[in-house]
Amino acid sequence: MKNIAVIGSGQMGNGIAHVFAQNGFKVTMVDINQDALNKAIQTIDKNMERQVGKNLLTAEEKLNALANITTTNNLAEGVKNADLVVEAATERIDLKLQIFKDLDTLTPASCILASNTSSISITKIASVTKRGDKVIGMHFMNPVPVMKLVEVIRGYSTSDEVTKQIFDISTKLGKSPVEVNDYPGFIANRILMPMINEAICSLYEGVAGVSEIDTVMKLGMAHPMGPLQLADFIGLDTCLSILRVLHDGFGNPKYAPCPLLVNMVTSGNLGVKSGSGFYKYVAGSKELVVAEKFNKTVNGIIVNC
Ligand SMILES: NC(=O)c1ccc[n+]([C@@H]2O[C@H](COP(=O)([O-])OP(=O)(O)OC[C@H]3O[C@@H](n4cnc5c(N)ncnc54)[C@H](O)[C@@H]3O)[C@@H](O)[C@H]2O)c1
Repeated sequence: MKNIAVIGSGQMGNGIAHVFAQNGFKVTMVDINQDALNKAIQTIDKNMERQVGKNLLTAEEKLNALANITTTNNLAEGVKNADLVVEAATERIDLKLQIFKDLDTLTPASCILASNTSSISITKIASVTKRGDKVIGMHFMNPVPVMKLVEVIRGYSTSDEVTKQIFDISTKLGKSPVEVNDYPGFIANRILMPMINEAICSLYEGVAGVSEIDTVMKLGMAHPMGPLQLADFIGLDTCLSILRVLHDGFGNPKYAPCPLLVNMVTSGNLGVKSGSGFYKYVAGSKELVVAEKFNKTVNGIIVNC
């Protein structure tokens, strides 16, 4: 496999394009939003510069890697020569089903169609194509250039051969692939999202404040980042979508998203990408500041909703 197409150039898409390009693959990034493509190239440039600063990459390797990336708004153009497509568009099932229907007609018959979905059924995605054996989950973690894991999700019809090819290519990227079957949330988010939801419920019920909840999990459980900061980092819209998939998929009320999370997403407070979530984010500042909404107390009780 040489030619890779990455669909969606948001925070995951640009990271996926980054690691493929850095490892010598030709990458075409496809996005409907030109600003997202421009921003993705700037982000990749900045992140590779950081790698150069840490001697993880030479200046020449950076130039070669950037030269491996092209961008387009045109899906047909972007995927016509692809050996592997990695879809990393917004976590919405209607959107992903349409993209895979289109990919099935626009890519060469031998092309493997992978999705970076956090939770949507690979079997369902495969069902809109005529190549269920070549549809697979390739779930990278955020930030992609740093995180080692690729959760490889086998849909009901995914072949052994395709699974092996995805294991091999993940290893070539310096990642550690792990095989998981296709059930709601797979493994990573089936375990992570209930924890994040419980942290949000604890805040909603006034049990503790944002920094207190995150500090307990960082210092008490040795998590590198607290669950509320992690939720901001993942994107609260993405967290909500995943919880809805778990809730619908298992029909178990334990996965019901916290009403505070629903309100935050509805009001456009999506975390890092919107500038505000449980914390507020100021461009250029690394200081972790709790969002004003969660900084109020009345008679010693935290008011947050
Ligand atoms: N954020 C995380 O930590 C994380 C981790 C693992 C997996 N994921 C998954 O990765 C995927 C992308 O998440 P993200 O955080 O990068 O989202 P994002 O919102 O940062 O980016 C999504 C991008 O998809 C583009 N897009 C929307 N419709 C499109 C279409 N029809 N064709 C091409 N591009 C389109 C948008 O313009 C946007 O640039 C989701 O499936 C998400 O569940 C996210």
